[in-house]
Amino acid sequence: DAGELVVGPAAGTDESRAGDGSRAIGDRAADGPLEIREDAAFAAIDGEVVAVGPTDEITREYPPESAATAIDAGGNAVVPGFVDPHTHAVFAGDRSDEFTAKLRGKSYQEILAEGGGILRTVRATRAASDATLRENLRAHLDVMLAHGTTTVEVKSGYGLDAETELRLLEAIDRVADAHPIDVVPTFMGAHAVPEGREADEYVDRVVEEQLPAVAEQGIAEFCDVFCEADVFDVAQSRRVLEAGEAAGLTPKIHAEEFTRLGGAQLAADLGAASADHLLHATEEDAAALAAADVVPVLLPATAFGLGEAYADARAFLDAGAPVALATDFNPNCHARTMEFVQTLAAVEMGLTPAEALRGATHDAALSIDREDGTGTLREGAPADAVVLEAPSIAHLAYRFDTSAVDTVIKAGVEVDP
Ligand code: NIG
Ligand code: FE
Repeated sequence: DAGELVVGPAAGTDESRAGDGSRAIGDRAADGPLEIREDAAFAAIDGEVVAVGPTDEITREYPPESAATAIDAGGNAVVPGFVDPHTHAVFAGDRSDEFTAKLRGKSYQEILAEGGGILRTVRATRAASDATLRENLRAHLDVMLAHGTTTVEVKSGYGLDAETELRLLEAIDRVADAHPIDVVPTFMGAHAVPEGREADEYVDRVVEEQLPAVAEQGIAEFCDVFCEADVFDVAQSRRVLEAGEAAGLTPKIHAEEFTRLGGAQLAADLGAASADHLLHATEEDAAALAAADVVPVLLPATAFGLGEAYADARAFLDAGAPVALATDFNPNCHARTMEFVQTLAAVEMGLTPAEALRGATHDAALSIDREDGTGTLREGAPADAVVLEAPSIAHLAYRFDTSAVDTVIKAGVEVDP
């Protein structure tokens, strides 16, 4: 309900604990990856942060006793809600046996070439009812929310025909309507070439049939394509993304995942919102993305699950680009928490916990064009926050077996996932 809402104090007011806990307020700060305030609190009204400052000042101006909700973090850290800007969370079926096959040495692309992988999920998804698709997605979003994700991008792409792609976008829309998480829908009809089809001919279907129907449906905001050897080449990817743009959808791209094909340069050329994966991107690719303001989205859980070498996160930071992180949750990468991703980013890609947190919040929001303060706790930002059961943000990456998330706040309200 509308009304005055105070969330805080984020910082402990107990003198004996003063100073021993960091309070993280995410944003691009000139002198560091995150602006972190000690003993701070924030207040929110109508789902929006209205004040951030020292706990005593905030509680004087917004007395906790008169607030609809007042949360004392008791000296623990409070961070912006996580933003997961790359998932394929709407699907049916199970591919755990492929994981076992991959452990025995089979490659992702071999499985796909044999009609498994994405194509297998397509068969299961086409056969599933709308209710099942919605129920599956809702269950995944529940887990994400419980682990601190307050905004998530979800791609279609397990339909590969107009009818099913529209059903997937409809499922995303219906579930999003009834869920606290903010959901950003992406159309990815060009996720794989359907069985028995040629890539060029299928791109015709995406461009002439699927995209007009998706535009008319009016749910999707972005258009994505899997630019990869034996999937869609650069010219085909360009066709899809340009047609998407003409239909009002902002381009995104799966680029340089298994081979360096030129997807990052294409993203720079088109001014895409993001280029994702980038395991095989070069320094020139990083420079091109930075110059074109395309956000690199790194997906360390995918590399982890496939046993591939990680993307070179430092190269993108050195090139002056932000580095966003995402789960890439899909049947090939059963990772739903941004906590796990931050651990991998720190341990395997050499980011500091603060850099990883920025990638999981502010920079992730940039990669889905959310520039309203999402992923920060600045004044005017959505009041999406996570209270940790730990005194410092380092615990997010450091504690890798159980969750460090204590309380999740979405639009100023404590959620009970
Ligand atoms: O981002 N690379 C393409 N798409 C997904 C995998 C989808 C699948 O295997 O089902 C990805 O990793
Ligand atoms: Fe993906």
